[in-house]
Amino acid sequence: MEKKGKAMEIRTFGCQMNFHDSEKIAGILKSKGYEESKDTKDADIIVFNTCSIREKAEQKFFSQLGRIKSLKKRKPSLKIVVTGCIAQQEGEKILKRAPYVDFIIGPQNIPFLNKIIESNDAKVFIAKNQEIANIELPIERKDKVKAWVNIMYGCNNFCSYCVVPYTRGSEISRNSVSIIKEIKELTKAGCKEVILLGQNVNSYHSDINFPQLLKEINKIDPLKRIRFVTSHPKDLSDEVIYAIKDLEKVCEHIHLPLQSGSTRILNLMNRKYTYSDYMKKIEKLRKEVPNIAITSDIIAGFPQETDEDHKETLNALKDIEFDGIYAFKYSNRPNTKSSKMDGQVPCDIKSQRLNEILALQNMITERKNKLLEGTIQEVLIDSVDRNNLKGRNRQNKIITIEYDSEIKIGDLINVKILKSFRHSLQGEKYK
Ligand code: 5AD
Ligand code: SF4
Repeated sequence: MEKKGKAMEIRTFGCQMNFHDSEKIAGILKSKGYEESKDTKDADIIVFNTCSIREKAEQKFFSQLGRIKSLKKRKPSLKIVVTGCIAQQEGEKILKRAPYVDFIIGPQNIPFLNKIIESNDAKVFIAKNQEIANIELPIERKDKVKAWVNIMYGCNNFCSYCVVPYTRGSEISRNSVSIIKEIKELTKAGCKEVILLGQNVNSYHSDINFPQLLKEINKIDPLKRIRFVTSHPKDLSDEVIYAIKDLEKVCEHIHLPLQSGSTRILNLMNRKYTYSDYMKKIEKLRKEVPNIAITSDIIAGFPQETDEDHKETLNALKDIEFDGIYAFKYSNRPNTKSSKMDGQVPCDIKSQRLNEILALQNMITERKNKLLEGTIQEVLIDSVDRNNLKGRNRQNKIITIEYDSEIKIGDLINVKILKSFRHSLQGEKYK
């Protein structure tokens, strides 16, 4: 009988950090002979890489986990692994709720995945492992053109609403030599764009600091583009702004979460900047890099947020005119300071405020995208989707053009924008 390989299924929730961790999980399991499963029924291992940033993400995971129970009953050899932020946050408690889970592995214990699943000594692995920043792991990347690269792990900011410092531990930067080596290897394999990942990339500091790191990566040929997420406004220095301006590979886009337009709420959030500090950074960014796209995150209905505070957020959106935002209803999270604050905002008011925020921003985004009609944009083609080729411009906007057999994934082409939509632009090849 033909020997069948082992099959894995990885389900990922949450942020880019988690999606990149899943590429590592796939790489690690592949090194043990696992191949991607075509069907959940055939899987020998199912890994849930979870997110706990908001309650909704957590509920989504638990409902999917519940649906796996019967499969495990029919196939006891199936290994069920829970990793990511809920694993770290809940640990053993997950077993109480779902005793059929085999292993609970916090994000800092992912490097030991193969060893863990081979032994049956313990089920819960959530010990701290700051060494994570210096361990090189096999990475199974699907996208050959764009690559996520970790530059730091964890977070020290303790925004009062956020679980990340608890689930991802304290901040640690990866050595620049190892980062540069990884990016050189990636470019040799055809990668054109790197997205540097960290919870707060502006506070990167190892042997060099963040703008110096950007300078070093900028020297790597034939890399074409450098992006980074996420920036904290309090740590965005002039040097980083000049790096965006002067280094040709660093793209003109920054994701700079504002969270609220009210300085009173920003203070309760422990963000360590006022609205006016934030505006000064925006003005500096736009003065030095006039074509920069700025995107942001907004939380609606933080504890004690009044109608007046909410209006200040709406006014901020009007004044700043972001290119796009992610907006969320405030959600109480375990361990966080804000979850214990008085003045929790009722759900219907949170929803109403969120809707107002989204409606206003939609108008702004559409208006800004319309201004791009008729312009020429440099697009890095990264996927084929039905009859279209798809990519992004330097400002990170999604652009589609009609399929053309002469254009390949990984090509940088000029596109004339014909039509704009809220979330994308449509164009044709220019010259
Ligand atoms: N409730 C709502 N949104 C949150 N975010 C982080 N924590 C919470 C929470 N408890 C949002 C912030 C952050 C983004 C990644 O998620 O806006 O920037
Ligand atoms: Fe990412 Fe934060 Fe969600 Fe963890 S909790 S997966 S770090 S967004």
